[in-house]
Amino acid sequence: MVAEPQEPLQLVINGDNVRTSVAPSRTLLELLRYDLDLTGTKQGCDKGDCGACTVLVDGEPVLACLTLALMCHGRQVTTVESLSGAPSLDGLLDAFDRRGAGQCGFCTPGMLMSAKALLARDKRPTRAAVRAAISGNLCRCTGYGAIVDAVMDEAARARGERASPMPSGEEHAPPPLPPYRERSS
Ligand code: FES
Ligand code: FES
Repeated sequence: MVAEPQEPLQLVINGDNVRTSVAPSRTLLELLRYDLDLTGTKQGCDKGDCGACTVLVDGEPVLACLTLALMCHGRQVTTVESLSGAPSLDGLLDAFDRRGAGQCGFCTPGMLMSAKALLARDKRPTRAAVRAAISGNLCRCTGYGAIVDAVMDEAARARGERASPMPSGEEHAPPPLPPYRERSS
């Protein structure tokens, strides 16, 4: 097989200037995961159906599996790795955690990025707007309710308002286990 010629590529990923070279057929998803080791962006269907590969390009959500890396020349790419963990936990990650919205970790990065894009352009989204924003992100395990709750919580927090309380009895934290001796007797 003849190797494809490489083209120079410059882009900014999560604030870092990246200069590299890629084959014209290399997708943004392949560049991120396999060339740059940014494995937070997931390779699900690899054909534009599942949304697991969603990243932001110049602030807009795109499917990285359908985007050629060279199309991002000179542009800003934001991946799930941009969301900071402890000790300065990203508010949306915290909301997902408290609402039990992140489950398998496969769909969650794409959900987070779609939600980030929504919250950047709409500070007061309706639940319908949240559902529309994540409608391209498939999860086959949840009813999406906890995800919508989490995005609404984060929108409220960012506005300086209190998140709506969780319905009594529906907190997602599991009850504490009984002491080991009781369980094993
Ligand atoms: S991996 Fe890109 S949409 Fe499924
Ligand atoms: S929680 Fe990710 S596919 Fe269901």
